[in-house]
Amino acid sequence: MRATSQAQPNIALVKYWGKRDVAGNLPAAGSLSVTLDSLWTRMKIEFDGTRKTDTLLVNGEEAAGMLPRVARCLDELGGPGRAAAVIESDCNFPIAAGLASSASSFAALVVAASAALGLTSTPLQLARSAGRASGSAARSLFPGIVELQVGENDIEVASISRPDAWPLTVTVAVTETAAKKIGSGPAMNLSKQTSPFYQEWLARQDADLQIARTAVATRDFASLAAVTEHNCLKMHSVMWSSRPSLVYWNAATLSCLETVRRLQADGAPVFFTIDAGPQVKVISEPHAGETVTKALHATSGVIDVMQSALGDGARLLVSQ
Ligand code: DP6
Repeated sequence: MRATSQAQPNIALVKYWGKRDVAGNLPAAGSLSVTLDSLWTRMKIEFDGTRKTDTLLVNGEEAAGMLPRVARCLDELGGPGRAAAVIESDCNFPIAAGLASSASSFAALVVAASAALGLTSTPLQLARSAGRASGSAARSLFPGIVELQVGENDIEVASISRPDAWPLTVTVAVTETAAKKIGSGPAMNLSKQTSPFYQEWLARQDADLQIARTAVATRDFASLAAVTEHNCLKMHSVMWSSRPSLVYWNAATLSCLETVRRLQADGAPVFFTIDAGPQVKVISEPHAGETVTKALHATSGVIDVMQSALGDGARLLVSQ
């Protein structure tokens, strides 16, 4: 009744921002992402019939605030009569700061919990469970470049390019390590209710997905770069035009965009994306990775720079 798993965060190139159904956490549109390799969440779960309540430790400290969401996910997998769980989660990057820690955490959670419960679930079933807890987590079950589509009642998720089929490097400029003030879930609901651009954003998602999917199939870096930056800036326009406005950027975020524009002007194969936080993620061809790291380190306000190749989906490390 014990298992340990590992999952990596994923970074969306075509973003998920909006839910069709809040109760079932069904996204309003599809998305496309890259699963990382060297940033990870490792999670150990033990179901213990002698305990009365669940316990959650994140990086060695009790995290009671996150427990209700975790417990709901475990209830869905183990049923209402399940034993209490002891969960230990460790993360090698800042959590809740726009680095997709909820994606790697819920992906790791469903893999470890289903193994500890003795369930035999397919990656798609696990992705659907993870997605009901956090929409972006569904994508971390799969390796490389991943597409999530929204069907009538549920999501479909699959890898569309293995990590070694089209190697890309993701360099993250950390510009703030404190947790963000408003999480993605409530923020996207606010955008749906208040942004005058929200419906336009949704109406164009399928077209962006089509361009990105074709770019991946044909290894067209320039096309993937253009659609990713455009999709990101559209999502942030929806955020900025929400009421109250959702501005996740800081001055260093903008400085990083200037750095990317300078690298592009010099001919480097690089492009950016930004999620619900002030960090900037720069995607490049692997040979440009070192130049990107140096340039971001030299950018005003950048606290840290992390780099990753594309990696595998969530997986079991130990099961006893
Ligand atoms: C900006 O998956 O965190 O990173 O389903 O409410 O948990 P919930 O939202 P979450 O939203 C991710 C938003 C994003 C874009 C993306 O990853 O596609």
